[in-house]
Amino acid sequence: MLDLDAEVTAGQLAELTARIAELAGDHPVRDVLDIGAGTGTGTFALLRRFPEATVTAIDTSDEMLRHLHESATRHDVADRVRPLRADLDEAWPAIGHADLVWASSSMHHMADPDRVLRDIHATLRPGGLLAMIEMEQMPRFLPDDLGFGRPGMEARCHVLLDEARAEHLPHIGSDWPSRLIAAGFTIRESRDVTVGLRSPLPETAIRYAYATLGRIRSRMADQLSADDRSTLDTLLDKDDPNALHTRSDLRVLSTRSVWIATPR
Ligand SMILES: C[S@@+](CC[C@H](N)C(=O)[O-])C[C@H]1O[C@@H](n2cnc3c(N)ncnc32)[C@H](O)[C@@H]1O
Repeated sequence: MLDLDAEVTAGQLAELTARIAELAGDHPVRDVLDIGAGTGTGTFALLRRFPEATVTAIDTSDEMLRHLHESATRHDVADRVRPLRADLDEAWPAIGHADLVWASSSMHHMADPDRVLRDIHATLRPGGLLAMIEMEQMPRFLPDDLGFGRPGMEARCHVLLDEARAEHLPHIGSDWPSRLIAAGFTIRESRDVTVGLRSPLPETAIRYAYATLGRIRSRMADQLSADDRSTLDTLLDKDDPNALHTRSDLRVLSTRSVWIATPR
């Protein structure tokens, strides 16, 4: 799903990394850290933008890092990527200084994000940049009134998802600008990155819809009403005439907030 998200947001990511390059100005971007790198969406976007850069991709998950390493090998950039297994909740690894730190959809996973922000601050060279991205809203795919039997199925799913996320991830949606400033950063730019795709959708976006709604169906099965379960089953059944890939009203809507900050 992370790789599908990367493909769907590739254009917006390229614009964002171009803006980071502008803000970096004459400061060389060689040592880059990708915090909670996952499958490498940020790592690969940054390698493309900064040809002199090497990226240390940090994650707790061996599986994510293996996937990232395989992609790096496939794209012939493995010599510019250093996958590093580390749990940033435990301690900041000994990785030296950085010119750019990228933290996309990862900071809200940290048990103590303020401590991690202070560690990032200490790691950045003077003039270095932190690009922090947090998803404002999980991606949506369906019209608001959709629901066979009861309209508004996707919105109800998102209420349940938000409740589950708030319970497990208490820092989600927190006041990141204040936290950045408290950790010693000056925010140079805040912006929203919006993905809004409508029919005809590329094949990747349709697969992204199947993957996301399929995950909601399996993770939320017990909490969904019978009506909503049945709506999802219909949409996810590729042989059904109402399946996702047949629908001209399928879309992708998602918004992320971005802060680009530098140590004070
Ligand atoms: C939602 S994913 C985001 C992945 C990637 N940055 C992206 O934008 O697609 C969050 C990632 O943070 C990692 N993560 C969560 N807690 C972490 C921690 N304490 N230390 C290091 N990585 C962590 C997870 O394993 C996961 O790969």
